Amino acid sequence: MSEIPLIELEGITKTFGSGAAAFQALKGVNAEVSYGDFVAIMGASGSGKSTTMNILGCLDVPTSGIYRFRGTEVQALTRDQRSLLRRRYLGFVFQGFNLLSRTTALENVELPLLYRGENKAQRREAGLKALDMVGLVPWAKHTPAELSGGQQQRVAIARALVTEPDVLLADEPTGNLDSERSVEIMELLTELNRGGITILMVTHEEEMASFAKTIIRFRDGVVERVEQGAGRHAMHDAGMTV
Ligand SMILES: Nc1ncnc2c1ncn2[C@@H]1O[C@H](COP(=O)(O)OP(=O)(O)OP(=O)(O)O)[C@@H](O)[C@H]1O
Ligand SMILES: [Mg+2]
Repeated sequence: MSEIPLIELEGITKTFGSGAAAFQALKGVNAEVSYGDFVAIMGASGSGKSTTMNILGCLDVPTSGIYRFRGTEVQALTRDQRSLLRRRYLGFVFQGFNLLSRTTALENVELPLLYRGENKAQRREAGLKALDMVGLVPWAKHTPAELSGGQQQRVAIARALVTEPDVLLADEPTGNLDSERSVEIMELLTELNRGGITILMVTHEEEMASFAKTIIRFRDGVVERVEQGAGRHAMHDAGMTV
């Protein structure tokens, strides 16, 4: 394992708007994420969690500060280089699933590969492999409307996995699910994390955060506290049940 952290944030600020309407959403965020970690980002509404996720995901740029990804200073990259980084290393899962409604589960999962220019056979093979990772091969031909919320989120996770990213970024992935379905998604994320993928997830629920190895707590645009070795995951690893 590398000595360099996967992700380093140093003094990240983000100001939206300008002049009298300017609002500083991030006021100097410092954080590190190791390879293979499973991080839950928590904090009150408006504390800057999504703003930070968007910066981590190269969907937005900070106003100031340093973001290093695998040792590379992301803010020094061009827009094109950042989108290459995004496509090469990152997978995204959203609260609202964001699936195409007239398209089958398998076609939804294959979509990122279509954008990459892969041929139909390559797309089919990788798409089925990703659907298999989330246990949904039997549902490959179904459209989102024919799937439950939990199944739709699994399709969205398979779509994020199909490009074999190093990091999965999930902003409130269980926000639209009941608690039973949420726990199933967290168990799936735990399994994927054991397979080696680094996960950063925003959640409002302590129960979901308890699946993570590390909890980063935000408050008013800064990191208030980092907690290591959070409960459930560590206990599972020690062969204990909760
Ligand atoms: N594009 C924007 N323009 C102006 N203000 C913004 C923008 N995006 C976010 N903000 C503000 O920045 C602050 C942080 O927003 P952010 O979405 O990061 O919060 P959050 O922690 O994800 O909250 P929630 O738990 O409600 O999702 C909020 O006060 C929000 O209104
Ligand atoms: Mg948010």
